[in-house]
Amino acid sequence: MKPLIAANWKMNMDTKSSVSFINSFKKYIKNIKNMEIVICPPFTLLNKINEAIKNTNIKLGAQNIHFEEKGAFTGEVSGLMLKDAGCEYVILGHSERRQYFNETNSMINRKIKSALKNKLKVILCIGESLKQRNNNQTMKIIKNQLLNCLNNIKEMKNIVIAYEPIWAIGTGKNATPSQAEEVHKFIRELLSDIYNKNISKNIRIIYGGSVKPNNIKELMAMKNINGALVGNASLDAKSFAKICGV
Ligand code: 13P
Repeated sequence: MKPLIAANWKMNMDTKSSVSFINSFKKYIKNIKNMEIVICPPFTLLNKINEAIKNTNIKLGAQNIHFEEKGAFTGEVSGLMLKDAGCEYVILGHSERRQYFNETNSMINRKIKSALKNKLKVILCIGESLKQRNNNQTMKIIKNQLLNCLNNIKEMKNIVIAYEPIWAIGTGKNATPSQAEEVHKFIRELLSDIYNKNISKNIRIIYGGSVKPNNIKELMAMKNINGALVGNASLDAKSFAKICGV
Protein backbone atom coordinates (compact mmCIF):
# COMPACT_ATOMS: atom_id res chain seq x y z
CA MET A 1 0.00 0.00 0.00
CA LYS A 2 1.07 3.57 -0.63
CA PRO A 3 2.40 5.24 2.55
CA LEU A 4 0.73 8.44 3.72
CA ILE A 5 2.54 11.43 5.17
CA ALA A 6 0.23 14.12 6.53
CA ALA A 7 1.04 17.57 7.86
CA ASN A 8 -1.04 18.72 10.79
CA TRP A 9 -0.39 22.44 10.92
CA LYS A 10 -2.61 22.81 14.02
CA MET A 11 -3.27 26.53 14.78
CA ASN A 12 -0.27 27.82 12.83
CA MET A 13 0.60 29.68 9.59
CA ASP A 14 -1.01 32.60 7.75
CA THR A 15 -1.74 33.43 4.10
CA LYS A 16 1.76 34.61 3.27
CA SER A 17 3.72 31.90 5.09
CA SER A 18 1.49 29.09 3.84
CA VAL A 19 1.65 30.10 0.17
CA SER A 20 5.41 30.47 0.37
CA PHE A 21 5.56 27.04 2.08
CA ILE A 22 3.66 25.43 -0.83
CA ASN A 23 5.80 27.18 -3.43
CA SER A 24 9.03 25.79 -2.01
CA PHE A 25 7.56 22.45 -0.92
CA LYS A 26 6.26 21.56 -4.37
CA LYS A 27 9.73 22.04 -5.86
CA TYR A 28 11.31 19.76 -3.26
CA ILE A 29 8.82 16.95 -3.76
CA LYS A 30 8.54 17.10 -7.55
CA ASN A 31 9.99 13.64 -8.01
CA ILE A 32 8.29 11.88 -5.11
CA LYS A 33 5.71 9.49 -6.49
CA ASN A 34 5.50 6.58 -4.08
CA MET A 35 4.02 8.61 -1.23
CA GLU A 36 0.62 10.16 -0.62
CA ILE A 37 1.10 13.64 0.82
CA VAL A 38 -1.64 15.57 2.62
CA ILE A 39 -1.53 19.06 4.13
CA CYS A 40 -4.06 19.95 6.83
CA PRO A 41 -4.04 23.72 7.40
CA PRO A 42 -6.42 25.70 9.64
CA PHE A 43 -9.88 26.32 8.11
CA THR A 44 -9.06 29.91 7.11
CA LEU A 45 -6.29 28.74 4.77
CA LEU A 46 -8.13 25.89 3.03
CA ASN A 47 -9.13 27.94 -0.01
CA LYS A 48 -5.72 29.49 -0.46
CA ILE A 49 -3.92 26.16 -0.14
CA ASN A 50 -6.43 24.49 -2.45
CA GLU A 51 -5.45 27.02 -5.14
CA ALA A 52 -1.75 26.74 -4.41
CA ILE A 53 -1.64 22.93 -4.73
CA LYS A 54 -3.36 22.82 -8.14
CA ASN A 55 -1.43 20.65 -10.60
CA THR A 56 0.61 19.02 -7.84
CA ASN A 57 0.06 15.65 -6.18
CA ILE A 58 -0.43 17.28 -2.77
CA LYS A 59 -3.82 16.65 -1.21
CA LEU A 60 -5.85 18.87 1.10
CA GLY A 61 -7.14 17.95 4.53
CA ALA A 62 -8.76 19.66 7.52
CA GLN A 63 -8.30 19.18 11.26
CA ASN A 64 -11.86 18.75 12.52
CA ILE A 65 -15.55 18.79 11.63
CA HIS A 66 -18.86 19.04 13.42
CA PHE A 67 -20.99 15.91 13.22
CA GLU A 68 -24.02 17.71 11.79
CA GLU A 69 -24.04 18.91 8.20
CA LYS A 70 -25.61 22.34 8.72
CA GLY A 71 -27.71 24.38 11.10
CA ALA A 72 -27.51 26.48 14.23
CA PHE A 73 -24.06 25.48 15.49
CA THR A 74 -22.26 28.80 15.83
CA GLY A 75 -18.56 28.58 15.15
CA GLU A 76 -18.61 25.06 13.70
CA VAL A 77 -17.70 23.74 10.25
CA SER A 78 -19.22 20.60 8.71
CA GLY A 79 -17.92 17.76 6.56
CA LEU A 80 -20.21 18.90 3.78
CA MET A 81 -18.54 22.33 3.86
CA LEU A 82 -15.04 20.85 3.89
CA LYS A 83 -15.80 18.70 0.87
CA ASP A 84 -17.06 21.82 -0.86
CA ALA A 85 -13.81 23.60 0.07
CA GLY A 86 -11.77 20.93 -1.73
CA CYS A 87 -10.76 18.68 1.15
CA GLU A 88 -10.10 15.02 0.58
CA TYR A 89 -9.09 14.19 4.15
CA VAL A 90 -10.00 15.20 7.69
CA ILE A 91 -8.14 14.51 10.95
CA LEU A 92 -10.56 13.37 13.67
CA GLY A 93 -10.11 12.56 17.34
CA HIS A 94 -6.77 14.31 17.79
CA SER A 95 -5.68 14.19 21.44
CA GLU A 96 -5.62 18.00 21.59
CA ARG A 97 -9.33 18.02 20.69
CA ARG A 98 -10.03 15.31 23.25
CA GLN A 99 -8.07 17.17 25.92
CA TYR A 100 -8.97 20.84 25.33
CA PHE A 101 -12.42 20.50 23.75
CA ASN A 102 -13.76 17.49 25.63
CA GLU A 103 -14.25 15.35 22.55
CA THR A 104 -15.37 11.87 23.48
CA ASN A 105 -15.12 8.61 21.55
CA SER A 106 -18.85 8.76 20.86
CA MET A 107 -18.63 12.30 19.42
CA ILE A 108 -15.69 11.18 17.30
CA ASN A 109 -17.76 8.20 16.11
CA ARG A 110 -20.50 10.59 14.93
CA LYS A 111 -17.91 12.79 13.22
CA ILE A 112 -16.42 9.81 11.38
CA LYS A 113 -19.86 8.81 10.14
CA SER A 114 -20.54 12.34 8.89
CA ALA A 115 -17.11 12.56 7.22
CA LEU A 116 -17.59 9.25 5.39
CA LYS A 117 -21.09 10.24 4.33
CA ASN A 118 -19.61 13.37 2.77
CA LYS A 119 -16.90 11.36 1.01
CA LEU A 120 -14.05 12.60 3.16
CA LYS A 121 -11.24 10.23 4.10
CA VAL A 122 -10.63 10.11 7.82
CA ILE A 123 -7.35 10.13 9.74
CA LEU A 124 -8.52 8.81 13.11
CA CYS A 125 -6.13 9.62 15.96
CA ILE A 126 -5.78 7.40 19.01
CA GLY A 127 -3.11 7.21 21.70
CA GLU A 128 -2.34 6.87 25.38
CA SER A 129 -1.02 9.38 27.94
CA LEU A 130 2.26 8.91 29.77
CA LYS A 131 0.42 7.99 32.95
CA GLN A 132 -1.57 5.33 31.12
CA ARG A 133 1.59 3.93 29.55
CA ASN A 134 3.36 3.83 32.91
CA ASN A 135 0.37 1.98 34.38
CA ASN A 136 0.56 -0.62 31.58
CA GLN A 137 -2.79 0.51 30.21
CA THR A 138 -1.67 1.35 26.68
CA MET A 139 -3.33 -1.56 24.89
CA LYS A 140 -6.51 -1.25 26.95
CA ILE A 141 -6.84 2.44 26.08
CA ILE A 142 -6.10 1.83 22.40
CA LYS A 143 -8.67 -0.95 22.26
CA ASN A 144 -11.31 1.17 23.98
CA GLN A 145 -10.72 4.17 21.69
CA LEU A 146 -10.71 2.05 18.55
CA LEU A 147 -13.82 0.01 19.38
CA ASN A 148 -15.84 3.05 20.40
CA CYS A 149 -14.71 5.39 17.64
CA LEU A 150 -15.40 2.73 15.00
CA ASN A 151 -18.69 1.56 16.50
CA ASN A 152 -21.09 0.61 13.68
CA ILE A 153 -18.68 1.71 10.99
CA LYS A 154 -18.53 -0.96 8.33
CA GLU A 155 -16.68 0.74 5.51
CA MET A 156 -12.97 0.94 6.33
CA LYS A 157 -11.40 1.73 3.00
CA ASN A 158 -11.50 5.47 3.62
CA ILE A 159 -10.10 5.33 7.13
CA VAL A 160 -6.48 5.73 8.20
CA ILE A 161 -5.55 5.12 11.83
CA ALA A 162 -2.96 7.44 13.38
CA TYR A 163 -1.27 6.14 16.51
CA GLU A 164 -0.17 9.24 18.42
CA PRO A 165 1.09 8.58 21.94
CA ILE A 166 0.27 11.81 23.80
CA TRP A 167 3.64 11.81 25.58
CA ALA A 168 5.40 12.00 22.21
CA ILE A 169 3.42 14.93 20.80
CA GLY A 170 5.37 18.19 20.70
CA THR A 171 7.87 16.88 23.25
CA GLY A 172 10.76 16.04 20.92
CA LYS A 173 10.66 12.55 22.42
CA ASN A 174 9.30 10.19 19.77
CA ALA A 175 8.23 6.62 20.50
CA THR A 176 11.07 4.31 19.55
CA PRO A 177 10.41 2.33 16.37
CA SER A 178 9.87 -0.83 18.40
CA GLN A 179 7.53 0.90 20.89
CA ALA A 180 5.47 2.24 17.97
CA GLU A 181 5.55 -1.06 16.07
CA GLU A 182 4.28 -2.94 19.11
CA VAL A 183 1.15 -0.76 19.22
CA HIS A 184 0.70 -0.67 15.44
CA LYS A 185 0.80 -4.47 15.34
CA PHE A 186 -1.75 -4.60 18.16
CA ILE A 187 -4.02 -2.20 16.23
CA ARG A 188 -3.70 -4.29 13.06
CA GLU A 189 -4.64 -7.46 14.97
CA LEU A 190 -7.56 -5.71 16.61
CA LEU A 191 -8.82 -4.51 13.21
CA SER A 192 -8.53 -8.05 11.97
CA ASP A 193 -10.71 -9.21 14.90
CA ILE A 194 -13.29 -6.45 14.38
CA TYR A 195 -13.39 -6.75 10.58
CA ASN A 196 -11.27 -9.39 8.91
CA LYS A 197 -7.69 -10.09 7.92
CA ASN A 198 -8.09 -8.81 4.40
CA ILE A 199 -9.56 -5.48 5.48
CA SER A 200 -7.03 -5.11 8.27
CA LYS A 201 -3.98 -5.66 6.12
CA ASN A 202 -5.06 -2.89 3.75
CA ILE A 203 -5.62 -0.22 6.40
CA ARG A 204 -2.85 2.32 6.76
CA ILE A 205 -1.69 2.76 10.34
CA ILE A 206 0.47 5.87 10.58
CA TYR A 207 2.57 7.15 13.49
CA GLY A 208 2.54 10.66 14.98
CA GLY A 209 4.54 12.26 17.79
CA SER A 210 7.83 14.17 17.28
CA VAL A 211 8.42 12.80 13.79
CA LYS A 212 11.47 14.55 12.34
CA PRO A 213 13.70 14.15 9.27
CA ASN A 214 16.21 12.27 11.42
CA ASN A 215 13.84 9.63 12.82
CA ILE A 216 11.37 9.00 9.96
CA LYS A 217 13.48 6.37 8.20
CA GLU A 218 13.75 4.04 11.17
CA LEU A 219 10.05 4.43 11.97
CA MET A 220 9.05 3.70 8.37
CA ALA A 221 11.25 0.62 8.36
CA MET A 222 8.78 -1.07 10.73
CA LYS A 223 6.42 -3.58 9.19
CA ASN A 224 3.18 -2.05 10.48
CA ILE A 225 4.06 1.64 10.16
CA ASN A 226 2.55 2.96 6.92
CA GLY A 227 3.24 6.65 7.20
CA ALA A 228 3.33 9.60 9.58
CA LEU A 229 1.24 12.45 10.96
CA VAL A 230 3.60 15.36 11.49
CA GLY A 231 3.10 18.47 13.64
CA ASN A 232 6.02 20.84 14.27
CA ALA A 233 8.34 19.46 11.59
CA SER A 234 5.63 20.01 8.95
CA LEU A 235 5.74 23.79 9.38
CA ASP A 236 9.01 24.07 7.49
CA ALA A 237 8.92 23.15 3.78
CA LYS A 238 12.41 21.68 3.67
CA SER A 239 12.02 19.60 6.80
CA PHE A 240 8.58 18.29 5.75
CA ALA A 241 9.93 17.48 2.27
CA LYS A 242 12.76 15.48 3.86
CA ILE A 243 10.20 13.53 5.85
CA CYS A 244 8.24 12.82 2.64
CA GLY A 245 11.37 11.77 0.83
CA VAL A 246 12.05 8.57 2.70
P1 13P B 1 4.48 16.88 16.71
O1 13P B 1 5.02 16.32 15.41
O2 13P B 1 4.71 18.36 16.83
O3 13P B 1 4.97 16.10 17.88
O4 13P B 1 2.90 16.74 16.65
C1 13P B 1 2.36 15.50 16.35
C2 13P B 1 0.90 15.65 16.14
O5 13P B 1 0.15 15.95 17.06
C3 13P B 1 0.37 15.45 14.77
O6 13P B 1 -1.01 15.38 14.76
